[in-house]
Amino acid sequence: MSVIEKLGLAVLHKCDPERAHGLSLTALQTGLMPLPGVYGSPRLATRLAGLDLPNPLGLAAGYDKNAVALAPLARVGFGFVEVGAATPRPQPGNPRPRLFRLTEDAAVINRFGFNNDGMQAIATRLAARAPGPIVGLNLGANKDSSDRAADFVRVLEHCGPHVDFATVNVSSPNTEKLRDLQGKAALSALLAGVMQTRAALARPIPIFLKIAPDLNADELAEIAEVAISSGLDAVIATNTTLSRDGLRSAHKSETGGLSGAPLFEKSTRVLAQLSKLTEGKLPLIGVGGVGSAEQAYAKIRAGASAVQLYSAMVYQGLSLVPRIVHGLEDLLARDGFNTVADAVGTGREDWL
Ligand code: FNR
Repeated sequence: MSVIEKLGLAVLHKCDPERAHGLSLTALQTGLMPLPGVYGSPRLATRLAGLDLPNPLGLAAGYDKNAVALAPLARVGFGFVEVGAATPRPQPGNPRPRLFRLTEDAAVINRFGFNNDGMQAIATRLAARAPGPIVGLNLGANKDSSDRAADFVRVLEHCGPHVDFATVNVSSPNTEKLRDLQGKAALSALLAGVMQTRAALARPIPIFLKIAPDLNADELAEIAEVAISSGLDAVIATNTTLSRDGLRSAHKSETGGLSGAPLFEKSTRVLAQLSKLTEGKLPLIGVGGVGSAEQAYAKIRAGASAVQLYSAMVYQGLSLVPRIVHGLEDLLARDGFNTVADAVGTGREDWL
């Protein structure tokens, strides 16, 4: 990390976390930050649900909720970027404070509750983006919606033409009862509607499903079954957790979803279980607690075709992204893997 980046992070960490988040987005938008651009190579290039990624490291949903920093984010070094969650109508989210740094644990707790500008504003920004890296949209539902399944369909209809993939997010812990949509019957019905809508798009895009890390073995097995039968293109494992095991920081008891370092093991175990359940029939994207090349590599070896991160950037800055990408290339080479795909799932048993 450069001295400037260290100073920048020190200043941000003096601010209220939500303000720091806004400031980091503003800093990106100024265009003054030196950004390396995307690094790819034949070893790192990978195909995910029909999408050609220059490298397998993506930005997880929730950082750029409103798609306001697409151009600079395209130059941070990610192989793909997910924005959102977007809901049909704009909504303010939960009252502040709703974002907490757990510095001693290298973690974050958030209870934002899908604060966003709504699908119309977000679609306008997505439509105006310059051609570039793969961009996907995380789909959400309004808090006061009487038909949440219909909300996912509406956002997909409206924004689908402007993105390369869309993620059905039924795993945020911050919208009451949203996670109930992970149950078999509700999920089947929801995905049937989403897949029908996808088929009607002029350019049908891949649809991903993002799941929670707090599911038991039976629930996971049901989700795997529904995911395959509904024709989904990939599953993202996982969202934030409700667990608070082993935390030391003052904010450990705040309500919300926990992300960052303490989520790594739990989310990787869910990923490995899902990999076993789906046996290569569905590509998986591993997310949760990745803060190093070794951890990104571990997710791939546990069964992920691609990896995403968010919270580690809060502590390690944007330079973490190219560090992980280059480190991953070295680790693949060290172990004799010519491509990412060759390494996928080769270490799964260690996590089961
Ligand atoms: C998130 N995450 C998230 N996920 C999602 O599907 N839709 C969303 O809107 C958000 N919003 C959001 C906000 C904040 C502040 C955080 C920290 C996280 C979850 C995120 O995409 C990811 O799944 C988890 O944070 C785990 O990855 P990391 O952060 O441990 O790398």
